[in-house]
Amino acid sequence: MDKIGIIGIGNIGAAITESLIDSDKEIIISNRSKGVLQKYRKYKNVEIAESNAKLAQEAKYIIVCVKPINYPLIASEIYDYLNEDSVIISIAAGYTMNKLEEIYPNRKYVMSMSNTPALVKEAMSAICPNDKVSKEETDDILEIFSYFGKVAKLPEDNFAAFTAICGSLPTYIYMFIEAASDAAVKNGMKRKDSYEYIAQTVKGSAELLLKTKDHPAKLKDDVTSPAGTSIEGLKSLENHGFRAAIMDAIDAVSDKYRKM
Ligand SMILES: NC(=O)c1ccc[n+]([C@@H]2O[C@H](COP(=O)([O-])OP(=O)(O)OC[C@H]3O[C@@H](n4cnc5c(N)ncnc54)[C@H](OP(=O)(O)O)[C@@H]3O)[C@@H](O)[C@H]2O)c1
Repeated sequence: MDKIGIIGIGNIGAAITESLIDSDKEIIISNRSKGVLQKYRKYKNVEIAESNAKLAQEAKYIIVCVKPINYPLIASEIYDYLNEDSVIISIAAGYTMNKLEEIYPNRKYVMSMSNTPALVKEAMSAICPNDKVSKEETDDILEIFSYFGKVAKLPEDNFAAFTAICGSLPTYIYMFIEAASDAAVKNGMKRKDSYEYIAQTVKGSAELLLKTKDHPAKLKDDVTSPAGTSIEGLKSLENHGFRAAIMDAIDAVSDKYRKM
């Protein structure tokens, strides 16, 4: 695969860089403040670029890992240095195909969305290449994203829902874990222990669904024994509008995304 460039070595850029270091791909990185780049000097497959423009000259795939507000500045710095076949990969929420066309006119670019589990190589990501990106290039990009989790190729009109169920969902899962832990502490358990037990249960429940591919309702039914404990909690959640609250949250994120 051709060289991969990463601009912005913050939370996500560092996670992507570290996944690619492990994959042995040739990478080149740049960042506004130079200090964070030093620790990558020891890796044979990592080159430190002296500027974003230099990175743009060297890399075929350029993943832009800066905050959305800095996207136009990066585009103005690199546009004139791109090669004919360069592919720019945006990971910024709200950078739609139209907005990417505005800052990278007539170029190959990819809109994408990922989530913070990328930090432990367990992201769920989606990519949407424009029509200038070839099948081979798309396959390369799917491979790049697979080094830090799972990835799907989706049409742009799925990105509002995808942002809600993958980009934002970790927030609600952590809120759920925190609330469950509060109740466990109220019932006498140590805070730290409860976080570990709940997190493993969330992880295990997700693994079971992914492995069995059973309907979630079946897996729920398997836990609720007649006149048992789980059905009591389930009734309480239904009384508090648990399903409607989750649907409203996903709907609200999707609406907000479409207005960005
Ligand atoms: N929803 C999510 O969970 C999620 C998941 C994946 C991706 N994202 C997207 O990922 C992007 C990055 O987020 P983050 O949390 O990683 O941000 P971050 O930690 O603030 O990192 C941004 C990095 O970009 C660098 N930077 C800023 N301007 C630059 C420039 N002109 N040239 C080179 N580097 C520059 C910063 O350098 P300094 O060290 O000088 O500040 C910093 O290291 C955002 O667009 C975000 O929307 C979000």
